[in-house]
Amino acid sequence: MDLETVERYIRATGASHSEIQSEMADYADENGFPIIGPDAGAVLRMLARLTDAERVFEFGSGYGYSASWFLDGGADEVVLTEIDEDELDMARTFLDRAGDADRAQFEHGDALETVDAYDGPFDVVLIDHDKPRYAKGFDKAREKVPEGGVIVADNMTRGPIDLDALTAYFADDEPLPEDASDGTEGIANYVEHVRADPAFESFVLPVGSGLCLSTRVAER
Ligand SMILES: C[S@@+](CC[C@H](N)C(=O)[O-])C[C@H]1O[C@@H](n2cnc3c(N)ncnc32)[C@H](O)[C@@H]1O
Repeated sequence: MDLETVERYIRATGASHSEIQSEMADYADENGFPIIGPDAGAVLRMLARLTDAERVFEFGSGYGYSASWFLDGGADEVVLTEIDEDELDMARTFLDRAGDADRAQFEHGDALETVDAYDGPFDVVLIDHDKPRYAKGFDKAREKVPEGGVIVADNMTRGPIDLDALTAYFADDEPLPEDASDGTEGIANYVEHVRADPAFESFVLPVGSGLCLSTRVAER
């Protein structure tokens, strides 16, 4: 069983894009923009449904592709944050055309500051911005996530990271290479950080670019 075959199988049996999502995916292909993709998108959609999400918060929304999956899953409100104003404008246009903009908040600026303006609770949080600052995002969001709520982070297995170095680090207790990228260090730090948090149960799901899922559990 090789990974490529598994990925082809997952894609062939996975969720389909809506018309607007297809347009968004085409834009990503043409411009090399790293959207979360339909397989991870289907996970986000399911999380919105399973938590009966009233509010979802995203760190790094791009032009609204990941948000579109949360909205498809019935989220009452999705807070999109984006440092690039043009991308946020595109998100407004796409989600408006999808008929979902009335359930979206569009926040321009640094997500790590925007999150302070929201009290929560957040039923689901997506972390998909600057890899070295993932752990900080988790810390800012964690108190606002109730029991049963989920924090999802992208790029555990693919993206601006070195998967071989991460595997050697976690599976073989090897140090990260001295020249490891900020992205690789950021993801290693994130996974260690959330796994050490006793209030959350965490694991990596190899779907899309690899998701780390952390659910808040009852105090034990
Ligand atoms: C991987 S893309 C997000 C893709 C999006 N989640 C999706 O799947 O459709 C990462 C985005 O995070 C944005 N970003 C980076 N640092 C940020 C920050 N501190 N606050 C808000 N957005 C940020 C980037 O401009 C970029 O658009």
